[in-house]
Amino acid sequence: MKVEIFKTSSEASKKALELFKLALSEGDKVFGLATGSTPEELYALMSESADIDFSEATSINLDEYYGLDQSHPQSYHAYMKHHLFNQKPFKASYLPDGSNEDAEAEVKRYDELLKENPIDLQLLGLGSNGHIGFNEPGSSFDSTTRLVALADSTIQANKRFFDSEEDVPKQAYSMGMQSIMAADKIILMAFGEGKAWAVNEMINGEISPDVPATILQNHDNVTILIDEAAASKLNN
Ligand code: GLP
Repeated sequence: MKVEIFKTSSEASKKALELFKLALSEGDKVFGLATGSTPEELYALMSESADIDFSEATSINLDEYYGLDQSHPQSYHAYMKHHLFNQKPFKASYLPDGSNEDAEAEVKRYDELLKENPIDLQLLGLGSNGHIGFNEPGSSFDSTTRLVALADSTIQANKRFFDSEEDVPKQAYSMGMQSIMAADKIILMAFGEGKAWAVNEMINGEISPDVPATILQNHDNVTILIDEAAASKLNN
């Protein structure tokens, strides 16, 4: 793991932008994308950057809330359009379909898409409980796409985006741990003190499904971009 600590999230996001530009210049074509507040600044930088062009690239997102239609303002479809796709369209963009109630069919469709589009560069955020995508604590390292129950701490963390806690979906479709680990390169960003525990576990903790992000210790091309607050509990 390569760990880079920046004074601010803005500096870390600038570094992530540079790494995306480098990947594009080296011919990477499939980008795994994340949602949440963490990549918002990176997406804003990409949106403004004249030398970023995704029109020949494919994006494939980590997850989507179950039960939310694409047009729902808190769906990850809507998030991606707002923060990136409207400004920087990809040749093709895929997300799980949260409105598909047939979980078996949806999971199969997404795993086939992942097979057809092996990810060159995967962007990740980090849950304060150590989740990646919506792979909550306890997720098997062998997991592929599936319908998952959100941890209570995740529902609490994400309720800020909804009118009330009752409105937060309790389930989501998520790419699995195995699919994340299959990416050629991974960039994980985490900002703020709320992530400090998970950041330290991810880097220094024992590899265990109890803290899903610890699996990244086994990947040979991971760059962790964090701010000083997220680095504040690093114990070595
Ligand atoms: C969310 C998403 C993750 C994200 C994480 C952190 O619930 N499913 O993909 O990385 O939790 O979110 P945030 O960046 O808002 O802190």
